[in-house]
Amino acid sequence: MTTQIPCQRDLFDIPDDVAWLNCAYMSPLMKSAVEAGEAGIRRKAHPWTVAPADFFPGPEEARALFARLINASADEIAIVPSVSYGIATAARNLDAPAGSRILLLDEQFPSNVYAWRELATRTGARIDTVPRPADDDWTAAILERVGEDLSIAALPNNHWTDGGLIDLERVGAALREAGAALVLDVTQSLGALPLDVRRIRPDFLVCGTYKWLLGPYSLGFLYVDPEHHGGEPLEHNWIARAGSEDFTGLVNYRDDFQPGARRFDVGELSNFVLMPQANAAMRQILDWGVENIQATLTARNEAIAARARGMGIDSVSQGLRAGHFLGLRFAGGVPEGLGARLAQENIHVSVRGASMRVTPHLYNNDRDVERFLDALKRAL
Ligand SMILES: Cc1ncc(COP(=O)(O)O)c(C=O)c1O
Repeated sequence: MTTQIPCQRDLFDIPDDVAWLNCAYMSPLMKSAVEAGEAGIRRKAHPWTVAPADFFPGPEEARALFARLINASADEIAIVPSVSYGIATAARNLDAPAGSRILLLDEQFPSNVYAWRELATRTGARIDTVPRPADDDWTAAILERVGEDLSIAALPNNHWTDGGLIDLERVGAALREAGAALVLDVTQSLGALPLDVRRIRPDFLVCGTYKWLLGPYSLGFLYVDPEHHGGEPLEHNWIARAGSEDFTGLVNYRDDFQPGARRFDVGELSNFVLMPQANAAMRQILDWGVENIQATLTARNEAIAARARGMGIDSVSQGLRAGHFLGLRFAGGVPEGLGARLAQENIHVSVRGASMRVTPHLYNNDRDVERFLDALKRAL
């Protein structure tokens, strides 16, 4: 059973006349996250308040919170500064033999493309791009291309342009059977769409915090399947090495690492400004419940989609689209300058590819939606 969460705008600092329907671009920070970040800045102003023991609890809490969001354990989580960093770590640790295929989606987000292109060039593998399916059924289109010569599939949970959904449990099972690795970038879904790594069993999964995790910019998390815990990190920093808690013994250089996925942590992971913001946000998301967030945003978007349909504007149908993510499709493409005209009225959405992304969150109210639909009607 899920519950509809009432509007949470009071937790955010959003003026009444701003209709921010653009979580897919960047979420606003909650007031609690702002306060946590400000406290971090103040600590740096007073470094005598920062003890060596303080470098560890923030990242460890973050690992545990993120792990709860994906049904993993804290030991399986590394801290990364961006999605591209997490994808580069995956590419460094997976094989793509000459002649094999690396599967991507048409118009996939570039941070989950370039590292694979480079890997393919280096090894003689080739990129196989799944064309956008005419019937919007990405899952079927992906499953059709799974075969023995597939080495890696690098995918999202839903497409970042229009919310087109992928059934990752089915895809994960088919890939395992074919002996291919699965790498996920869930930046446009995690926090709003339930996900369970024990059921999907990806090799690597990465998520930036600044969208649906309601967190800061320049921080992300990387899940690493235990099979890869002996892998090669992108960089070698002191804190990822075993025994780094003892600041007096750091020059007793060691070859062994902190346990689990921690070897893949970015340097300076004890980010006293960003980490507390991410933790405040993840605590709140877990408190609301991702299922409830999804149910609430699905109802919101279904109502918008139905009204848009009445104006002749289409979208991927419910069932083939992630509920939190609406992409409006205009016959003949998104009208030139429409996004900018809406922004002039302080109504914010984003145009990506052929669709206009309308991505509300719990801070939006009915007035935001009415203002958007009214502006849309006037613009047509
Ligand atoms: C699907 C997806 N992945 C990743 C990112 C951000 O990637 P990075 O952290 O490498 O800047 C975005 C930003 O729009 C995105 O939409």
